[in-house]
Amino acid sequence: MPLNSKHLLGLDGMSRGDLQLILDTAVSFREVLDRPIKKVPPLQGKTIANMFFESSTRTRLSFELAERRLSADVLGFQATGSSVSKGETLKDTARNIEAMKVDMVVMRHAAAGAPHYLSKIIDANVVNAGDGSHEHPTQGLLDMFTIREKLGRIEGLHVCILGDIAHSRVARSNIHGLKTMGARVSVCGPATLIPRELERLGVEVYHRLDEVLPEVDVLNVLRIQLERDAGRFFPSLREYHLQYGVTRQRLEKAGRDITIMHPGPINRDVEISADVADSDQSVILQQVLNGVAIRMAVLYLLSSKN
Ligand code: CP
Repeated sequence: MPLNSKHLLGLDGMSRGDLQLILDTAVSFREVLDRPIKKVPPLQGKTIANMFFESSTRTRLSFELAERRLSADVLGFQATGSSVSKGETLKDTARNIEAMKVDMVVMRHAAAGAPHYLSKIIDANVVNAGDGSHEHPTQGLLDMFTIREKLGRIEGLHVCILGDIAHSRVARSNIHGLKTMGARVSVCGPATLIPRELERLGVEVYHRLDEVLPEVDVLNVLRIQLERDAGRFFPSLREYHLQYGVTRQRLEKAGRDITIMHPGPINRDVEISADVADSDQSVILQQVLNGVAIRMAVLYLLSSKN
C-alpha cells in the first residue's frame, strides 16, 4: 500500500493510515539495523540530495545513513561553503541540483515553508528535515515509533511536551502525529513559551510541571533554543531549571515510571539534569537509533511515488 503523498512536508493532516504505514514499515528496517550487514538494496540506482541550510548533527547523519543503508547514491549539500554565499537563490540551487538527475531531496531550512516551496518547483520527492519553527516530521515519527516500541501502544497514553513549545518544530509534529494516533497530549512550560492557539488543537496546557507529572506516561523534554532567543522569555536559565528542569528528585516525587525523551541536542542541567538524561528511564539514544529506521521507511515509501 503506497503513501497518499509524494512528499513528506509535515504531520499536520497526515492520515492515521499513512502514519501507521510508516511506523509499521520502520519495524522491518529497525531489524535490518541489528544485522551484521546493515544494508538492503531497495533504493539502488536512486540519488538523494541532502540540502542542509541550517546546523544539524542527528538529522543530517541519520538521513545520510538511512540512504546508504538503502543503497542509494547520496549527495551532501551544506549552505556554508556553497554558492549560496555568492547570492544564489534557493530556487536556482535546488533546480541545479535536480538537473543532476536527483530523485529525492531532503531539506532543512531556517525558513518555515521552505520545503513546501521546493516541492512546487522541482519534480523530485521532497522530505522536510525541519523548517524553522514549523515542523520536523521525521522527528515526530521517530518519537512515536520509540513510544510504541517502549510502551507497546500510542493510543490512550498521556504524552506531555515540556518547555520551549513556541519555537519548536518538534512539538508541532509530535502534537499532530500523536493526536491523530489517539494519544492524550499536553504541553507544559512558561506562558511566554506556549502559543495560545494550542488549545484549539485539543492540547491541554499546564504551567506547573509538578502538577502534570503524576498523570504522565511519556515526558518529551524540549531544548531551550537559545539560538532562537528563547532565553528572553524567562528570567534566567537557573530560574528555568528550578521551575521546569527534569530532575531525579522531581520524578521520584511524581511517583510514576515516566519514559523520558528528548530530541537533542541537550542543554544538560538546564531543561534536564545530566543523571536523568543518562538514566534507564531515558530513551534518548533509542530515539537516535530509531531515527535511522524511520528515515529508511519514509525514503523507501516515497520512492515508489516518484
Ligand atoms: N533532533 C534534531 O533535529 O537534532 P539535530 O538538530 O542535531 O539534527
